[in-house]
Amino acid sequence: MSELTEISRRRTFAIISHPDAGKTTLTEKLLLFGGAIHVAGAVKSNKIKRTATSDFMEIEKQRGISVSTSVMGFEYKGRKINILDTPGHQDFAEDTYRTLTAVDSVVIVIDAAKGVETQTRRLMEVCRMRNTPVMIFINKLDRPSKDTFDLLDEVEKELMIHVRPLSWPIGNGNTFKGVYNLYEEKLNLFKNISKTTIEESIEFKDIHSKELEQHIGSDAARVLREELDMVKELYEPFDIELYREGHLAPVFFGSALNNFGVRELLDCFIEIAPSPRIFHTVERTIHPEEEKFTGFVFKIHANMDPNHRDRIAFVRVCSGVFRRNTNYYHVRQEKYLKFANPTAFMADKKSVIDEAYPGDVVGLHDTGNFKIGDTLTEGEKLHFKGIPSFAPEHFRYIENADPLKAKQLAKGIDQLMDEGVAQLFISKASGRKIIGTVGALQFEVLQYRLLHEYGASCRYEPLNMYKACWIESDNKEQLDDFIKRKYNYMATDKHGRNVFLAESAYALANAQEKFPDIKFHFTSEF
Ligand code: G4P
Repeated sequence: MSELTEISRRRTFAIISHPDAGKTTLTEKLLLFGGAIHVAGAVKSNKIKRTATSDFMEIEKQRGISVSTSVMGFEYKGRKINILDTPGHQDFAEDTYRTLTAVDSVVIVIDAAKGVETQTRRLMEVCRMRNTPVMIFINKLDRPSKDTFDLLDEVEKELMIHVRPLSWPIGNGNTFKGVYNLYEEKLNLFKNISKTTIEESIEFKDIHSKELEQHIGSDAARVLREELDMVKELYEPFDIELYREGHLAPVFFGSALNNFGVRELLDCFIEIAPSPRIFHTVERTIHPEEEKFTGFVFKIHANMDPNHRDRIAFVRVCSGVFRRNTNYYHVRQEKYLKFANPTAFMADKKSVIDEAYPGDVVGLHDTGNFKIGDTLTEGEKLHFKGIPSFAPEHFRYIENADPLKAKQLAKGIDQLMDEGVAQLFISKASGRKIIGTVGALQFEVLQYRLLHEYGASCRYEPLNMYKACWIESDNKEQLDDFIKRKYNYMATDKHGRNVFLAESAYALANAQEKFPDIKFHFTSEF
């Protein structure tokens, strides 16, 4: 197969949702359709149950599971599908944000009874920032659900994206009879006999045919016809370009648990979802079909075994072909590295690969060479854009609790920060180390891992801050004045950039008002 065909047949995406909407179930069903697994239940839920939020072993287990499900690749109808897993727990949202830098599109799962929830809203903001194409699966139609038009209005309003239903539910809960697939003009009837059988669908081009009554009864047929007329009136026809530019989200309905509506989603997805996209670096734009290999690290995963402190760096291939045992240039470290055992992930299996194409993710064994955002090339000095750190909202001072292990602690903090577990700031006034995180659970993860992987103990001291933001200004005088006045609230990040730690929303708003020439950034990339 030519390289161009390899690129155009790849679909690399992430499934995102608020916890419990059905992401794990949908992922599993997609793998079932792709033949990558054969029985339901093979994909472990990667979420930490709410009851176990402070159970460290649970966190460790989660890490163990998520390495094998980090990327789930499978073949389906001539396409190579790569699903990039994202953590289920919202305290790990930053991991999810970073994974979203490595995908070409996303599928959002929404619970039909709950509608748009907080986590969905936040994740959508990240997609919107990058114009990531979004497809929506409204799940759990077998349960009593919100009115379909109301749901679609809610999605448009809350997620700030235009929608276009490509399937339409016939009833819900006890009255759920199936969906009409507007994309393929087929009627899919819901037969809740077995959760593992795949439903039959009937070609049904003329919705006004009398046959409809025979399948779903006269009441449901009347409602469906009325609603489909309204769909035609209310929504523009589906425009694939608008979808690919991230402005229009096609919507499907179904029940992942019952295998219902999943095949339609997948069949439409492989047709319309984008193949590997272009990437932006500080220096230039990278096209997937370029001859030379480029890629970047979007995730680092530590080995579970403390005796082997190696890690796996996950690299998204952006252009060219990645080959085993070939020298690649590590731009930040300015040196060439060769990888003898690059790994690819097919469903829950890992295997050593000889080559990987744009859209693929390779796992590289790493002994501390990589940081998130690092670039590999064939020699060109490139720096990928769009892999920001997000403004932390939880802070603590970190102190060494074992004077004999100061070195281990420093090393551990350094490496775990590279892995993206949390962010380190140094207070300008006191020189003390401050750990900032997006979710509170990271403090426990950090402490646990410092002890178990580096033999270092740490102690935290409380620090009540509202938010950290990066500041910059062209007005040097105002910037200097700000730093002087707010000296006790100033810190530097790992790159030596100025960070303002705001005590409260009020303090932040006040600072923004009083210092109009200063830009306050809530991601580290600006
Ligand atoms: P998540 O990854 O988004 O957090 O959600 P997950 O797939 O784990 O699903 C959350 C719960 O919703 C699970 O039940 C799952 O079985 C259920 N579910 C998923 N899809 C559907 C659906 O289409 N209809 C209905 N009725 N339920 C659905 P649970 O009881 O929390 O877990 P489990 O014990 O069944 O694994």
